[in-house]
Amino acid sequence: MSSLKEPVVIHKGLDNVYVKESKVCFIDGEASKLFYRGYSIEDLAEHSTFEETAYLLVNGKLPTRQQLQDFGKLISSHRTLEPGVLQLLRSFPTTSDPMDVLRTAISALGLYDPQPATDNINERTDKALRILAKTPTIIAAFDRLRNGREPVSPQLNLSHAANFLHMLTGKMPDPYDAHVMDVALILHAEHEMNASTFSCTVTASTMADMYSIITSGIGTLRGPLHGGANEAALKTVIEVGDPSRAEEYVTRALAEKKRIMGFGHRIYKTWDPRYVILKKLGAELASKKGETKLFGTAVAIEQSALRHLAGLPVFPNVDSYSGVVFHMLGIPTDLFTPVFAMSRIAGWTAHAIEYLEGNRLIRPKALYVGQTSLPYIPLDARGTR
Ligand code: COA
Repeated sequence: MSSLKEPVVIHKGLDNVYVKESKVCFIDGEASKLFYRGYSIEDLAEHSTFEETAYLLVNGKLPTRQQLQDFGKLISSHRTLEPGVLQLLRSFPTTSDPMDVLRTAISALGLYDPQPATDNINERTDKALRILAKTPTIIAAFDRLRNGREPVSPQLNLSHAANFLHMLTGKMPDPYDAHVMDVALILHAEHEMNASTFSCTVTASTMADMYSIITSGIGTLRGPLHGGANEAALKTVIEVGDPSRAEEYVTRALAEKKRIMGFGHRIYKTWDPRYVILKKLGAELASKKGETKLFGTAVAIEQSALRHLAGLPVFPNVDSYSGVVFHMLGIPTDLFTPVFAMSRIAGWTAHAIEYLEGNRLIRPKALYVGQTSLPYIPLDARGTR
């Protein structure tokens, strides 16, 4: 039993525990505000690109024109996979979950780095950017291989977003699709000290290499309580199938004490600002693609849920439309979380690097409530059960 004299406070879920000071991201969940390095998500979605946003997150300031060009070239120059990693993707069962594939492939990338571990922050950042560059290639290559198609080589002259869609479909993406993909990547790039970012931070605090850090983040993001809500939200929209059935669905789901996917958030107690941006883009995408029924069903579910949940601090979050948008872009449902990871690597890197400047090993405690000093029982004396 614990011998502590002071009463111990257990912070289950680490709610309201601060692990560091940070200049990466600020969320005001009461005012519907999100800032990356001080810039509003609305401005970044409207004026920036994923590459520029990744530079901002990792380096702390917006790049000059030259810096942005150099950064874009650096990312595109690292898109191609090592033959050994491609070979590995070919060897995986086609039934593998793409998140498991991504976790394993990024871990394998470290085996092809002659010096994966380094204490130098610039070298660490460089390694993280190589991982960021190769992640879309891994996701798209595995998707093609599992469908019996050859991977499409990365195009160096395309943006991160457009190149991903090109490698996935084998076709040059429509410019508006590429734009929506780009904005979706911006919106998912960072979100303060969520579970996967914390996981990366814990691994960074041990001075582990960047491959281990990012693999930790992917393992944590994989869980349905973190990365999977957009998949579930899309599934609901497809099952409901028609705006006229939304009210019946929401009434029944709430009566059965089920949660409406894409609603509610630990931090936002009002509109998630990313939801606002994505819904607008989604509406335009739906009318361009003739997917107005699907989109209209998502809107009808949202309207009905808002009426039923009025009075509670529960509002639509980014996942209410991200799944619908990814679906309209032709991205298979089980790639939604890998795509989330592909973008979030920027935020994970920013936090890991920030934590390492003034690192302290993260080592919390568990309050022991078991027994001590038990007499050891020889195996033969333990009975049969
Ligand atoms: N559908 C229906 N009711 C919901 C709800 C939802 N999506 N989210 C929260 N509520 C209800 C809760 O049951 C709670 O009701 P109660 O007080 O009667 O128990 C009330 O609203 C307040 O919930 P709150 O404490 O603000 O939520 P939380 O912090 O415990 O949970 C989530 C946050 C994200 C886990 C939760 O909203 C959820 O499961 N959402 C659906 C999944 C999702 O979209 N996740 C993506 C997040 S980006």
